[in-house]
Amino acid sequence: MITAALPYANGPVHIGHLAGCYLPADIYVRYLRAQKRDVKFIGGSDEHGVPITIRAMKEGITPQQVVDRYHALIKESMEQMGISFDIYSRTSNKVHHDTASAFFKKMYDDGLFEEKESEQYYDEKTKTFLADRYITGTCPVCANPNAYGDQCEKCGSSLSPEQLINPRSALSDAVPVKKKTKHWYFPLQNYEPWLKEWIIEGHTEWKNNVYGQCKSWLDSGLQSRAMTRDSNWGIKVPLPGAEGKVLYVWFDAPIGYISATKELTDQWADYWCNEDTKLVHFIGKDNIVFHCIIFPSMLKAHGGFVLPDNVPANEFLNIEGEKVSTSRNWAVWVHEYIKDFPGCEDVLRYVLCANAPETKDNDFTWKDFQDRNNSELVSIFGNFVNRTWVLMHKLCGGKVPKLHEDILDDKDRALIEAILNSKFKIQNYLEEFKFRDALFEVIDLSRTGNKYMQEKEPWIVAKKLTEDPTVQKGIDNCMHLCLQLTANLAILVNPFLPNTAKKMLNMMKVVEKMLDWENAGSVKLLSVGYSLREPQLLFRKIEDAEIAAQVEKLKAGLIKPKDQAMEAKEPQTSNLKPEIIYDDFAKIDLKVGTIVAAEKVEKADKLLKLQIDLGFETRTVVSGIALHYQPEDIIGKQVVVVANLAPRKMRGIESNGMILMAEDKSGKLHFVSPGTVIDKGSSVS
Ligand code: 2FM
Ligand code: ZN
Repeated sequence: MITAALPYANGPVHIGHLAGCYLPADIYVRYLRAQKRDVKFIGGSDEHGVPITIRAMKEGITPQQVVDRYHALIKESMEQMGISFDIYSRTSNKVHHDTASAFFKKMYDDGLFEEKESEQYYDEKTKTFLADRYITGTCPVCANPNAYGDQCEKCGSSLSPEQLINPRSALSDAVPVKKKTKHWYFPLQNYEPWLKEWIIEGHTEWKNNVYGQCKSWLDSGLQSRAMTRDSNWGIKVPLPGAEGKVLYVWFDAPIGYISATKELTDQWADYWCNEDTKLVHFIGKDNIVFHCIIFPSMLKAHGGFVLPDNVPANEFLNIEGEKVSTSRNWAVWVHEYIKDFPGCEDVLRYVLCANAPETKDNDFTWKDFQDRNNSELVSIFGNFVNRTWVLMHKLCGGKVPKLHEDILDDKDRALIEAILNSKFKIQNYLEEFKFRDALFEVIDLSRTGNKYMQEKEPWIVAKKLTEDPTVQKGIDNCMHLCLQLTANLAILVNPFLPNTAKKMLNMMKVVEKMLDWENAGSVKLLSVGYSLREPQLLFRKIEDAEIAAQVEKLKAGLIKPKDQAMEAKEPQTSNLKPEIIYDDFAKIDLKVGTIVAAEKVEKADKLLKLQIDLGFETRTVVSGIALHYQPEDIIGKQVVVVANLAPRKMRGIESNGMILMAEDKSGKLHFVSPGTVIDKGSSVS
């Protein structure tokens, strides 16, 4: 039973999410499936909790609308990136509400909660109790002025609202007051002795970062934690007199793994209530306490469920040296990557795995992305497979040549051994959740293939073919082994780069069954005489311009914190230009036009060359909007054109006019268009 953290459906997923848990979980699951192990891979959207309600409030829509929008977007991104869940569910489903409710009710009936009335922060303006992220203030540990009521994202400390200095409501910015409210608490301290035995003594094999965090939580002592909240969004507390109370999102969300399994199969209990099950939670480091301490204590208290066997949490992935921040838009969004690099999903999987924050925070840079693609995927792996295929067509008539055992030499034997050794190394790494090491071993094996080919030089040998039959036999052996190595590489790379493995299967004209893990290590995968297809390019080179555009996009999209933006732009009134009279304005001829074509201007990152249809003629206009809009996204857009502006040459292109754009505080440009589509050539005044 493999689970990957349920992302909050309050925004799209970024590459930090992928690197943190979805990609490692998927690699592991694909490997287990190739081993024919009975595995279920569970995921879904976390649709309750404060992040969702805050988003809804900010956008002026309902929480349901928020989760509907983002659940669909996240699900699609996961599918496109090949994250092969057996089910991707959502916690707003009825089966989840029923399961989580019943779980709570059983714990309540068994007397496992403490019912307590206490004073909590309350926002009188919005009439809301302020728990978790509804409240912000200064972190008592690191003085970050924007810490939340449950956690400081800067120093990682886990907090309670009472600990915040100068608390404020995240909803209205009001200074909160204290008000009495009743909640149900789970006395975690009662589980401390058991947790110590189970984790500190029993799970010394857990990753250092995970084990260390658990130890420090347990060393500093556990306390009762409220498992309910005052809110209208979430799973209603199934008790009389609990109106306006819902389950704490961290109570319901992990139960989502169980409910999603119920939705997937009637045999769900075979996985969740079976001692033979190995339960593995893939998560990011901010989720460690919930998956290693709170959820296991809940499972233990409830009884009847397996406990996690391992929780291989990753650390965080930074971007270009800075922490990912969704509020500042410092992120590489997965759905945008897919659009910008179509067909390159495996490249992102490769880079995120090669650079995975397995033991410490790591950095993603676009330069490293390009380097790894060009000098590892293209030049090593892709190059080996391509060379093998081209030579096999040239020297062996497109068919698998014979292996002549009688003339096998040391290099051939070393290659055969390397294939088998690699399989076992990769397998061991994968079993230990060392995905980076496993992937490097795959690349290393293709590097060995290149070296072998270079030493054997079959293309040179072929030029000096003599009567001596061993010369042709030598070529056969070299090509035979390179082909068998390619088949092995397809199996070994499949968990990491499934699309690449598929392309390789196609070139080899073999079925998916060949990718079974047990086949790896063999050099009898492709039969002698079998004819193979033409080579297919596995990876393409990524150009400097593509990388520069991504770096620009990242920087241009950055939203400055409110006060910084104010500083840069305010006071707005003093930005006014000197007064003009009506006659000055009347000289400007503004017309409505439709963009009918758009393309990037070479060597000018900011410029787009537009063709604008004004009804009476079509104009070329060069506009500085390339950092904000992709050419294909603006075709058909109606814009306002300064139509009588004198022509001007930009990068050698004559621009005949200008389009009007509005710039917001963050520096993003927006089109100025008529509110509805109107006739081209209409005047604007
Ligand atoms: O941190 C998060 O994004 C949470 N939504 C993860 C929940 S994991 C599980 F418990 F559901
Ligand atoms: Zn802090």
